[in-house]
Amino acid sequence: MKIRIARYDKNKEPKAIVFEYEVSEDKTLLENLKEIKEKKDASLTFRCGCRSGVCGSCAIRVNEVERLACKTKLKENDLIQPLKNYEVIRDLVVNIDKNKQLLQNSNSFLEELSSQKVTKEDEKLIHRQSNCILCQSCYSSCPVLEVNKEFKGPFVLTRVLRYLDDKKEAQKSNKIALIQENGIWDCTLCGNCTMVCPEFIDSKSDILKLRMIATQAGYTDPNFQNFSMDFNSGFDSSGGFNPNGF
Ligand code: SF4
Ligand code: SF4
Ligand code: FES
Repeated sequence: MKIRIARYDKNKEPKAIVFEYEVSEDKTLLENLKEIKEKKDASLTFRCGCRSGVCGSCAIRVNEVERLACKTKLKENDLIQPLKNYEVIRDLVVNIDKNKQLLQNSNSFLEELSSQKVTKEDEKLIHRQSNCILCQSCYSSCPVLEVNKEFKGPFVLTRVLRYLDDKKEAQKSNKIALIQENGIWDCTLCGNCTMVCPEFIDSKSDILKLRMIATQAGYTDPNFQNFSMDFNSGFDSSGGFNPNGF
């Protein structure tokens, strides 16, 4: 069986090229990548760690859909590409340095320890979001990041909710303030992030929940404000329709 792998080397011409490789159907994509590297082409570059779906380091795209290479079986002619929305360093390896900054910019960490007692029930509330393995699949699948590199992105917003729902966190208002710009209101609610998450984390629903929390804290959707201003311009001061208003 043959698959295609996107290769990239900034020091070669052409820099980007797609190569065909013979692979075994009964092995995972990661096992096949290792075999190609060991037996056919030592220059093939990819990331991996645990080989069992725990570390998140082997995330790539198969036929444009984000997957973990160590958990993926292949079909004839599959196209293997690096994650989107990150700079490619080489072949299937992308530069994830900006993740640290993204998490820091949203204060998605424990800022101030509260003295509240945490029960088993409280722990259950943040269990799913705490399972994020930072594989970046959701980030790669997000259409907003293709047009707005400043968007905080799904795994960051999910992590903010995790700390807002965490009784151990005493400092919540900073976190809500920091996700207003390039954050919760910029999401299109397309659901791509939810579909590709290997940990079944539902970032789309997490973002909806964050919008509710922000609204209760007195924030409003800036897009809705603009819409209502445009809409109101269609009416005169007495509330009658002004045909020149639109
Ligand atoms: S639901 Fe929102 S965060 Fe998730 S992929 Fe779509 S636009 Fe991005
Ligand atoms: S939320 Fe899911 S897809 Fe996104 S980084 Fe975490 S584990 Fe990966
Ligand atoms: S190698 Fe760790 S998740 Fe695939």
